Amino acid sequence: MGKKVTVVGAGFYGATTAQRLAEYDVFETVVLTDIIDGKPEGLALDLCQSRPIEGFETRIVGRTTGVDGSGYEVIEGSDIVVITAGLPRKPGMSRMDLLETNAKIVRGVAENVAKYAPHAVVIVVSNPLDEMTALAQLATQFPKNRVMGQAGMLDTARFTNFVAEELKVPVSSVRTLTLGSHGDTMVPVPSRCTVDGKPLADLLPAEKVEELVVRTRNGGAEVVALLKTGSAFYAPSAAAARMARAVAEDSGAVMPVCAWVDGEYGIGGVYLGVEAEIGAAGVRRVVETDLTAPELAGLKEAAEAVRAKQADVADM
Ligand SMILES: NC(=O)c1ccc[n+]([C@@H]2O[C@H](COP(=O)([O-])OP(=O)(O)OC[C@H]3O[C@@H](n4cnc5c(N)ncnc54)[C@H](O)[C@@H]3O)[C@@H](O)[C@H]2O)c1
Repeated sequence: MGKKVTVVGAGFYGATTAQRLAEYDVFETVVLTDIIDGKPEGLALDLCQSRPIEGFETRIVGRTTGVDGSGYEVIEGSDIVVITAGLPRKPGMSRMDLLETNAKIVRGVAENVAKYAPHAVVIVVSNPLDEMTALAQLATQFPKNRVMGQAGMLDTARFTNFVAEELKVPVSSVRTLTLGSHGDTMVPVPSRCTVDGKPLADLLPAEKVEELVVRTRNGGAEVVALLKTGSAFYAPSAAAARMARAVAEDSGAVMPVCAWVDGEYGIGGVYLGVEAEIGAAGVRRVVETDLTAPELAGLKEAAEAVRAKQADVADM
C-alpha cells in the first residue's frame, strides 16, 4: 500500500510542505486540511494540476475541517501527520507570544489526529515549537517516539547557509549543527562544524563564528522583520518534508529534531533539540554526539528552560 501523509494547516508552511511532499513522488496521497472554507480544496486542486508539468503521480486531497472535528475522516490511515496549524509571528513578537493561542489550536488538532489517525507519526512545526511538540504528545497520548518536532534541521540549514556565504563555498561542503531549543536557548555546536572536513574554527576567527551563531539564533526573526506579514516557510517546509520522507522510507537518517530525551546527555524527560535516527516508528533513537563542556552546559540550560514551559502546556 502506498503511503499517506497529512498536512494540517494550509497556510504558507503547510501549503509549501504539501507541495514538496507531493513533488517527491514517493507518497500515494498527500492530504491538506485547514479550517478556512475551500482553501485546502483549492490548493489541492491547483497542486494536482501541476502534476503533468512537474511529472509526479501523488494525489493531493484538500479538505476543510471544522473545529468540532468534522471532515477529519479524510486523514484516516495516514502514516504521518504534519501539524502546521497555528498563528505565525508578526514583527517584534517572540515565538513564546504565540503560546496560548497556538496551544488551543494544536490541542484540538492533536485530539482529532489521535481519533482518526491513531497509528500516525506526528511531526509538529507550530510555534513555540518545543512546547507544541510536548503538548501534541500529551493530547494524542501517542508513544513519545511517535511525536517529534521540526526545528533543528531548519536552524542547522540556516547556520550552514551563512557559513557557505561567508566563505563563498558550496553549501554541500559545509556541515554545521544546532541543538537545544528553537528559541533563545538554541545551542549551535561549533565543534561539529566543518568545511570540506576542516574545522570551522581553522577557517574563521572566533568573533566571525559567533556573529554567524547570533544570526542563526535570530534567523527566524530576520525573515519575519522583512516579510512583515508572516514567517519563513521555504526552508522550514523543506525541513519538515525531509523528516516526513525519512519516516515514510524508514530511512534511518540522522537528523537534528525535537525529540523526547530521557537520560541522553544526562538530561531527563523533556522534548529537546537533539540528533535522532528517524524511521517508520518516528524516532528510533536519540544519537548522542561528543560535545565540549560549554556546549553540553548550553544544552542542559536549554533543557531546563523548555522543561519549565512544557510543564505549563499540560493545563492548556
Ligand atoms: N518550527 C519551525 O521551524 C517553524 C518555522 C516557521 C513557522 N513555524 C510555525 O508554523 C506555523 C504556521 O506558519 P504559517 O506561516 O503556515 O502560518 P499561516 O498563518 O500562513 O498558516 C496557518 C494556517 O493554520 C490554519 N489553522 C488555524 N487553526 C487551525 C485548525 N484548528 N485546524 C487546521 N488549520 C488551522 C489557518 O487557517 C492558516 O491557514 C506557525 O505557528 C509558525 O510560527 C514554525
